[in-house]
Amino acid sequence: MGTLFVILLHFVTLQVEQLRRPRDDYMVAMQKDISATMRGILVDWLVDVVDEFNLLADTLYLAVSYIDRFLAASVVTRDKLQLLGVASLFVAAKYEEIHVPKLDKFSDITDGTYTNQQVVKMEADILKYLNFQMGSPTVRTFLLRFLISCCGGNCASAKRLELMCCYLAELSLLDYDCIRFLPSVIAAACLFLARFTISPKICPWNFTLQEKTGYKVSDLRSCILRIHDLQLGRQYSNLKAIKSKYSERKFGCVSMMASSEEIPASLLKDLDK
Ligand SMILES: *[C@@H]1O[C@H](CO)[C@@H](O)[C@H](O)[C@H]1NC(C)=O
Repeated sequence: MGTLFVILLHFVTLQVEQLRRPRDDYMVAMQKDISATMRGILVDWLVDVVDEFNLLADTLYLAVSYIDRFLAASVVTRDKLQLLGVASLFVAAKYEEIHVPKLDKFSDITDGTYTNQQVVKMEADILKYLNFQMGSPTVRTFLLRFLISCCGGNCASAKRLELMCCYLAELSLLDYDCIRFLPSVIAAACLFLARFTISPKICPWNFTLQEKTGYKVSDLRSCILRIHDLQLGRQYSNLKAIKSKYSERKFGCVSMMASSEEIPASLLKDLDK
């Protein structure tokens, strides 16, 4: 009974994952005034706001998913991008948090760039575009599920793996190019890369992980390489909020851990039967 339910839940989540995705070419197809770089700067800033307001990581992931779904459906000029960011965070906080910061705090954090009324108006627009479908499975949803099912335990090494995974997954939020990957693919790729970073000599993938995540290494390859580029600072290296957050002791200093410049080709091949 229990197992069947978990399997069913997994399939439902995978389907919702497909439905609630933005088109992955919206920046070119839809937007005229903003760019992937500006989107990255906005996400980087939101990481700091989430930290300052003591919000949950889940709220950050949801807010970014609202931003992308909104931008895929509606043209936004650069002077309104930060407004979209704070209003998305406000909507996500209402959905996810027990204690939601007051509206004033969200307009104040923009240094008076926007009024309360503007935030509320944008909130209404976001809800309209989301069609009130506010919950969607994020990278974090899958990541925590994968970690529990294959890398459980409360020991220090399990904790470090989890923090490394969370660090890499947050880096993926900065990157417009990662929108083309399913959240479950990004989660599995982060697990692969976290295991590789911590133990570069050991093959990061095995049959248990393949079965529990549903992905072979070849399914993850391009996503792994993209996130590895982010980790090494080959992309978006000027955006420092996530790197600096994860350099703190309470986050295990995982962003300070060096990763090899190159992932050996032998590790990026599918497992032998
Ligand atoms: C794969 O790795 C996970 C995590 O280290 C471990 O729990 C599992 O037993 C391994 N499976 C196999 C088939 O080696």
